[in-house]
Amino acid sequence: MSLSVVILAAGKGTRMKSDTPKVLHEISGKPMLFHAIDVAQKLSDDVTVVLYHQADRVREAIEAVYQNIIFHIQDVENFPGTGGAMKGVVCFHERVLILNGDMPLMTEASLEMLIHGSADINMSVIKMENPSGYGRVIIHEYNVQEIVEEKDCTPDQKNVQTVNAGVYCVKKEALEKYIPQLNNTNAQKEYYLTDIIKMAVDDEKTVSPVLVIEEEFKGVNSKLDLALAEEIFQRRIKYDLMKAGVIMRLPETIYIDCRAKFEGECIIESGVSIQGESHIINSHIKTNSVIEDSYIKDSDVGPMARIRPKTKLIDTHIGNFVEVKKSTLTSVKAGHLSYIGDATVGEGTNIGAGTITCNYDGKKKYETIIGKNVFIGSDTQLVAPVTVADDVLIAAGTTVTGDIEKGSLAISRTPMKKIENFFYKFFGTK
Ligand code: UD1
Ligand code: CA
Repeated sequence: MSLSVVILAAGKGTRMKSDTPKVLHEISGKPMLFHAIDVAQKLSDDVTVVLYHQADRVREAIEAVYQNIIFHIQDVENFPGTGGAMKGVVCFHERVLILNGDMPLMTEASLEMLIHGSADINMSVIKMENPSGYGRVIIHEYNVQEIVEEKDCTPDQKNVQTVNAGVYCVKKEALEKYIPQLNNTNAQKEYYLTDIIKMAVDDEKTVSPVLVIEEEFKGVNSKLDLALAEEIFQRRIKYDLMKAGVIMRLPETIYIDCRAKFEGECIIESGVSIQGESHIINSHIKTNSVIEDSYIKDSDVGPMARIRPKTKLIDTHIGNFVEVKKSTLTSVKAGHLSYIGDATVGEGTNIGAGTITCNYDGKKKYETIIGKNVFIGSDTQLVAPVTVADDVLIAAGTTVTGDIEKGSLAISRTPMKKIENFFYKFFGTK
C-alpha cells in the first residue's frame, strides 16, 4: 500500500478543561486518539503521530497498546499551527493522509474516498448551515482556490458555507515542496497547513474537494463534544451488534464498550452497561446490570447485578443485587443479595441470599474455594482464606471460619431465646 498516515495531536485542547491530554479522553472505552490510530492502521503501515503537549504521557499510552507507531514532536515554540506540525515529518510512501487526533468518528469507508483519485491534493469539505469556527473553502468556477481561516476571513468570506473538514490526502512531493514555504503572516501568527492549498493552486496542481459526512469529521474539543461523539459511537456499536444477532431491549439506554464481544444468542435488557473487554456468549443480561471485563457463557445475570473484572460465569444464574468479583462460577445459582469475591465455586452449588465472602482483612485479599453441590444457607459469611469441600450443607446465618470437609454440615448460631408476653410488658396492652 503506497499510503502514509500522519495524525496531528500536538494541540493543547484548552477547551477540554482537563489535566488529561485531550486525545486520551475515552470514547466507548478507548482514548479518542486510538480510534483514529485504528482506522489509520487499516489503511497504512506507516503511521506517524505528531505530539507536543504532554507528549510523554500520550506516547506512553500509545506504546502500551500499539507497535509500529512513529512519533514526531512538533517544534511548537518556533512553528505553531497545523502546518508547523507537519514540519520535519518523514513519510515513506507516495501519498500522505493527514488526520486529526481529535476526530474519533472517521470511518475507513470515508477515508477511502479521500485517498482515491489522481489529484495532487484531495481535501475533505462539509457544507454547513453555521460554518463558524471552520476554515472556509473558497471555490471559483468549481475549482478550489484557497482555504481561509475564520479569523482571516473578509465579511463576504465569512458567509461561505463550504468548510474545510481538516483531513487531506497530499502527494508526498507536494508536502515536501510546500511545507518549508509556509509562513505565519496571519491573524493567529501560526503556520497553517491549509495554506498549501493556495500554493498548490498557484503552482497549477490539482486540488480536489471531497464532500464528507459531517458527523464523522467532527472534532472533539470540549466535554460536550465528547458526550455527543460517545452517543454516535454507541449507536454504531449497537447497530453492528444487533445486525450480528444480539437482541437489545431499548438499545438507546444500553452502553457497550467497543472492545466487548458477543457470540450466539444474547439478550441485553435496558440500562445495562457492558464495560472493558467483556465476552458474552449465549447469555441474558437483565435490566440495569453492570458487566466489567468478564467472561459470561450460557448464563443469566441480573436485574441489577454487578459483575466486576476477571469474573467467569459459566452456566450460572446471578440474580438481583449480587456482586461478583474476580471469581469463577460454574453451574452455580446465586439468586439474591450476595458478594462473591476472589472465589471459585463448583457445579451444582447454591448460594443463599445474603451470602458474603469476607475476602479482605483490611490489609490483604484472600481466596474462597467452594466445591460442588454445596448448599449455602442465607446470610452466611465465609471468612477467607477458606475451603469448603463438595457436598457440604452450611446452615443459614453461619460464619465459616475454617475449612469444611466433604459431606459435612456447618452451623454456627446463637441459640434463639423466647420470653413469653414480653411484647405486652414492653409496649403495654391497649
Ligand atoms: C483546522 C483548519 C480549519 C478546519 C478545521 C477543521 C488549519 C489552519 N485550520 O482548524 O481550516 O476547518 O481544522 O476541524 O489547519 N494541531 C497540532 N499542532 C498545532 C495545532 C494543531 O498538532 O500546533 C493538531 C490538533 O491537535 C488537532 C489538529 O491539529 O488535532 C487541528 O487543530 P485545531 O486547532 O483543532 O485546528 P483548527 O484551528 O480548528
Ligand atoms: Ca478544531
